[in-house]
Amino acid sequence: MINIKMSAIKACIFDLDGVIVDTAVYHYKAWKRLANELGFDFTEEDNEKLKGVSRVRSLELILQWGGVTKTDAEKEELANRKNEWYVEMISHMTPAEILPGAKEFLETCRAAGLKTALGSASKNSMTILNKINLAGLFDAIIDGNHVSKPKPDPEVFLKGAEAVGVPPANCVVFEDAIAGIEAAINGGMKAVGIGSPQVLTKANLVVSGLDKMNLEKLNAL
Ligand code: BG6
Ligand code: MG
Repeated sequence: MINIKMSAIKACIFDLDGVIVDTAVYHYKAWKRLANELGFDFTEEDNEKLKGVSRVRSLELILQWGGVTKTDAEKEELANRKNEWYVEMISHMTPAEILPGAKEFLETCRAAGLKTALGSASKNSMTILNKINLAGLFDAIIDGNHVSKPKPDPEVFLKGAEAVGVPPANCVVFEDAIAGIEAAINGGMKAVGIGSPQVLTKANLVVSGLDKMNLEKLNAL
């Protein structure tokens, strides 16, 4: 008897920063400028710890690392200042900044009849998707403007699944952050890590980038 395993996957949900584009360098430059203005340094290692972390939470961590206390009103002003610099930088992004294989894999998924959704913590995701001309490849776009609970809470991915009408058990999430992998698992979804297997230990599969992803690997999840 031939045993053909039918894939349960009917929707792919993608994180944006670190999966579709590498915006970490822009976040780094903007946070570093802010930290320097406040009188302390901010390293690339520090920046690594902010992957997948919301803007407000990132600021709180940076102030903590710098040993600086601010009021809520001051924090809002600082977060806005950082975001203005960040938005200026991403306004120059082009499709050349799409990470290898991301566009091709999105097209493969859609050609195979799978639903595609974006599930990002960023409130700037529409700006970025428009700059890189990828908005049209997503059936649903859920980002930091639509959620109140940050990853590892599964809210952003559950809303994505709901928006494309697919039960969580039939969804797979592509994520580069530990908190994002945890959010997918907490939502009852499969998780594919983008990065290092030593870091993304809870993922069902880890690949170095979407250029290493294909339908065979998806069907085997
Ligand atoms: C995540 C990034 O995707 O979005 C974080 O990994 C970032 O580094 C977060 O802080 C929020 O982004 P934004 O664009 O709303 O400041
Ligand atoms: Mg990310």
